[in-house]
Amino acid sequence: MYALITGGTSGIGKDIAINLGKKGYDLILVSRHYGDTDQIKEQVKTNVINLTYDLTSEEECFKLVEESKKYDIEIFINNAGFGDIGYINKTDLRKEINMVKVNDIATLILTKSFLLRFMENNKGKVLIVASAAAFGVAPYMNVYYATKAFAYSLAHGYYRELKDKKSKVSISVLCPGPVKTRFEEVANTKFNIKSLSSQYVGKYTVKKFLKGKFIIVPGLSIKLAHTFSHLVPKRFISKIVRKQASI
Ligand SMILES: NC(=O)c1ccc[n+]([C@@H]2O[C@H](COP(=O)([O-])OP(=O)(O)OC[C@H]3O[C@@H](n4cnc5c(N)ncnc54)[C@H](OP(=O)(O)O)[C@@H]3O)[C@@H](O)[C@H]2O)c1
Repeated sequence: MYALITGGTSGIGKDIAINLGKKGYDLILVSRHYGDTDQIKEQVKTNVINLTYDLTSEEECFKLVEESKKYDIEIFINNAGFGDIGYINKTDLRKEINMVKVNDIATLILTKSFLLRFMENNKGKVLIVASAAAFGVAPYMNVYYATKAFAYSLAHGYYRELKDKKSKVSISVLCPGPVKTRFEEVANTKFNIKSLSSQYVGKYTVKKFLKGKFIIVPGLSIKLAHTFSHLVPKRFISKIVRKQASI
């Protein structure tokens, strides 16, 4: 039985893959590069397959959906994504457009396609990797926060639709705060607050995900931030959150 993980070759996706592999799932890792695949192969006894796709392309997303039909997939992890930081006149609009494509368009195409496939058999599990960014708004990371709000909102809507249909297919959404991965390098930043390790986040996530928990928030401080985000106006959140990372 396969688990397909986008961005499964690095960071959070890699550690989710390792933990699913240890639970006996064969793994399909989707990314543009081979990345840390060898580290995964060293730690799991199951099959590990790499599929090379660039998820900024809608066409490639649809081709991935087709190619994945060759495999008996029970778990889909929508994890690939990235961020960027900077003042409005320093950030690159092309990079931001690609961020929307990977973080949102690919998330929509792949999540909907896998949910429909799983619903045909009334079996399967989906995880959308959003972020604690989805709880708030932030200057200097505006686009990233907006993309994660989309992913978070999408997960909530599908969750309710599945419940209304009494489906056995489940969806979860992961909302980590800062995690030590390649994220900072790609986003041209350094976190100013303590990061969790991706090993911890991967293990915690797989445990909660396989139990069917809907909103998965690793770490006490981010759990508190989640609660706090329901109580205060967004304009106030944007004032606090501006200090989270260096620009
Ligand atoms: N690190 C954090 O602090 C943090 C916090 C909250 C949420 N998240 C979210 O967690 C997810 C994973 O990020 P990470 O922190 O683990 O970063 P990472 O180490 O940079 O991993 C990102 C993964 O996504 C893949 N990817 C990126 N662009 C892609 C594209 N166009 N097509 C296919 N694959 C692509 C990368 O592979 P290739 O580059 O080889 O394509 C890589 O495997 C992201 O959605 C991120 O927004 C991260």
